[in-house]
Amino acid sequence: SSSGSLAGRHVLITSGPTHEPIDPVRYIANRSSGKQGHAIAAAAIAAGARVTLVSGPVALGAPAGATTVQVQTAEEMLNAVRAALPADVAIFCAAVADWRAASPADEKIKKTGDGEKPQLELVENPDILKTIAHMKTGRPNLIVGFAAETENVIAFATRKRRNKGADWTVANDVSTHTGVMGGDRNRVHLITETGVDSWPEMSKREVAETLIARISALLHDKARR
Ligand code: PMT
Repeated sequence: SSSGSLAGRHVLITSGPTHEPIDPVRYIANRSSGKQGHAIAAAAIAAGARVTLVSGPVALGAPAGATTVQVQTAEEMLNAVRAALPADVAIFCAAVADWRAASPADEKIKKTGDGEKPQLELVENPDILKTIAHMKTGRPNLIVGFAAETENVIAFATRKRRNKGADWTVANDVSTHTGVMGGDRNRVHLITETGVDSWPEMSKREVAETLIARISALLHDKARR
């Protein structure tokens, strides 16, 4: 689309969980459904942006109008994000597994019958947001991270924004009782360099539209100066 507040902009979004293989049939994952990230992609398209959506395994359809790249693991997600650059805005909504199995088994791990348990050695995954935020050349102008916390939400998310090098962080409480992971509603705090803006609980679609409106306002503000 050539009209809309994000016309001519490329917006890159990650969404969903990653699956980290343990053996050919088992994996490490989390409860992310992709609903929030996919809603952001739809809102960016509606605002006229060119959108690349890099998605882990989800049950959702690809949003119409986006270039969607499907991946399984964190390493694949990082490669797909790199391949999609340059972008004006990058929004990291995916729930990337922090760890993967050090050496996934080639064959299905069998029970031994004597009650012996397999030892699962983990190694850290690359941090996609941190990697892109620290690019020396070609860094997107605006990098928005998310922070999924279950306690001290604003304090932990504020620290995460700084440690990872994001411009903005969208913090949400993913404690079981909130139903945020996998659910249709969210209550977020937008953390910038200058402060915290706590939004009321709303649908994930409304969170997405509000976030995209904030991004459009920032870009238009920058263009005027
Ligand atoms: O998918 P839904 O069911 O709709 O749920 C939405 C959500 C709760 C998953 C979403 O709103 C959310 O909070 N996404 C971030 C999930 C997460 O894993 O957050 P984190 O606090 O662990 O990570 C912080 C930031 O670093 C995130 O932007 C994450 O994408 C990024 N990250 C983390 C680890 C890693 N290896 N690479 C990353 O890029």
